[in-house]
Amino acid sequence: MTVTVRPVTEAVGAEISGVDLRRSSDTDFAAIKRAWTEHSMILLRDQQLGEDDLLAFSRRFGELDPPPNQERGRISPPGYPDIYVVSNVLDEKGDPIGALGAGEAVWHTDMSYLDTPPDASMLYSLEIPESGGDTWFCGMQAACAALPAELHRRIEGRRIKHDGTYNSGGYLRKGVTPTDDPMAAPGAWHPAILRHPGNGRATLYLGRRRNSHVEGYSKHESDALLEELWAHATQARFVYQHVWKLGDLVMWDNRSTMHRRDPFDGAARRIMHRTQIKGTRKPVAFMA
Ligand code: OGA
Ligand code: MN
Repeated sequence: MTVTVRPVTEAVGAEISGVDLRRSSDTDFAAIKRAWTEHSMILLRDQQLGEDDLLAFSRRFGELDPPPNQERGRISPPGYPDIYVVSNVLDEKGDPIGALGAGEAVWHTDMSYLDTPPDASMLYSLEIPESGGDTWFCGMQAACAALPAELHRRIEGRRIKHDGTYNSGGYLRKGVTPTDDPMAAPGAWHPAILRHPGNGRATLYLGRRRNSHVEGYSKHESDALLEELWAHATQARFVYQHVWKLGDLVMWDNRSTMHRRDPFDGAARRIMHRTQIKGTRKPVAFMA
């Protein structure tokens, strides 16, 4: 089999075909990693991955993170603490088997409230609803390159506060005190524009909107600036909409993309297995 890489949009994402991830060679893997570095999000369809296969493929990218702290803490399939379940399905006691429910998940980057956020996350689809639950990706390098000069100037050399209070489903993380004050909220400050360690390109790094704050501005000024930045970054020209099929493996670069999820019918079932590649270095500002 030969690995082929086809971009899915100009701004973000590529579909890779010709690989069975249960038995990919080192050469295949090198091509996959190159595509991920270049396109920031990769899609491989028609995979048949058990838990061990998903873990083995994930570990080729580096050490894994344990599941993030979500509304009910960390939920893994029995015996697989490094896999995290994203699902609305309830167990026999009526408790969700995973995180994020069936509602919308707003635009975000995973766990950027840490000083060293994860490098990547991946989702593998096990059950999907008939409709809804699409996952959208935003190419933050394309968005950065297209920043109007005046917007660029207003964030150049500044940091942004990334909030650790709420997850993308709007749920309070387990054990965290609720707040809507960005200064009081737990989280991390990161450069507004990063240098991507893999491809060297400038990346707009927004994280998530709620409880965000741009350094050196009043709350009012920062909110107005963030509204402009978010409106710019999430334009359709920077976005790919992923409509799931069973057996899809999607992996994103967590530094150079954001993602969000559409809501779906809560009576339908959606089950994703997810892994996360640990971050290896703190985000560094891009110097022109
Ligand atoms: C995630 C996430 C969205 C989805 O797993 O980090 O945001 O489509 N998931 O399930
Ligand atoms: Mn996420």
